[in-house]
Amino acid sequence: MGSKSEKKSQDASLLPVTYHLKLPGDIVPEAVQKKVKSAEKGQILCEHYPYPTKMKRKKYEREITRLQIELLKLQRWVQLNGERLVLLFEGRDAAGKGGTIKRFMEHLNPRGARVVALPKPNDKEQGQWYFQRYIEHLPTRGEIVFFDRSWYNRGVVEPVMGFCRPTEHHTFLREAPQLENMLVNSGIHLFKLWFSVSREEQFRRFKARETDKLKQWKLSPIDVKSLGLWEEYTKAQNAMFMATDTKACPWTVIRSDDKKRARLNCLRYVLNQLDYPNKDQALVEDFDSEIIGSKEVIFD
Ligand code: ADP
Ligand code: AMP
Ligand code: MLT
Repeated sequence: MGSKSEKKSQDASLLPVTYHLKLPGDIVPEAVQKKVKSAEKGQILCEHYPYPTKMKRKKYEREITRLQIELLKLQRWVQLNGERLVLLFEGRDAAGKGGTIKRFMEHLNPRGARVVALPKPNDKEQGQWYFQRYIEHLPTRGEIVFFDRSWYNRGVVEPVMGFCRPTEHHTFLREAPQLENMLVNSGIHLFKLWFSVSREEQFRRFKARETDKLKQWKLSPIDVKSLGLWEEYTKAQNAMFMATDTKACPWTVIRSDDKKRARLNCLRYVLNQLDYPNKDQALVEDFDSEIIGSKEVIFD
């Protein structure tokens, strides 16, 4: 019975107007619910976050525009030099991956920059080598590709939700670094960006999605299920970092309870890592090391 009704609700997700998922009241601990209920606008809920409130909009708008101008310089370099760039966005549901990609893309020339957001694998893809459907979308010279979720589905979502077998999960953890080594050796600039959101903030965003007509489509059955699997996600996430945070291809972690700080610092960080002409060095190296850094810096 379970699988039939689940299938029905997944099909309904294709119809955003009538699509309406409810969050079960008891799906997160009471303390989290309380915190979210009594939260004030602009307040940061996570105790470990380095700032008590969200960033002001005015300052954010000013800064993001300057960084988007830098990004255009970067794109010009990518195109003239025939560079290949991959930015891979990962993190829990509602961590802010999609919104950050949107700000990256906003003023770029779409001829030469694209987003890859693959749906769940179809029957044909399920019969292929796991990485195959992702490989197809890698950039050619002069291209920037943003992966909104990636092969790392098999690192976290799939094992936690039971969409893959344990052996497939373990094979993935062994092979992902091998694949990434090959990509980097071929000259691709590869960024693996992990957006880290607290349990309180995740629940707050899900509550907003429940009622916001423009955001309801983002609330998937997987999201609802994931709320009750916080620790399972954490466990899978740790195993993933252990296996795939390599010297050749390390993870960069972004604290994303404040979306504005997350976006600005992510832009700065990526720009700072690449060597394009006419760079405003002072602007891009001024990223906040309490918001973005290696997994050791942010998680320890
Ligand atoms: P998102 O959070 O990216 O908007 P979902 O929360 O619905 O999307 O799903 C999370 C991820 O799990 C997506 O990358 C989706 O493709 C994947 N997924 C969903 N169902 C399956 C499935 N049956 N098998 C494998 N992957 C799946
Ligand atoms: P189950 O739903 O418990 O039958 O598990 C289905 C699949 O998900 C199996 O492949 C499990 O090994 C895998 N799985 C479940 N939870 C986790 C987890 N936290 N980390 C890794 N794999 C998991
Ligand atoms: C995000 O906010 O991280 C994604 O855009 C959507 C999601 O994961 O639910």
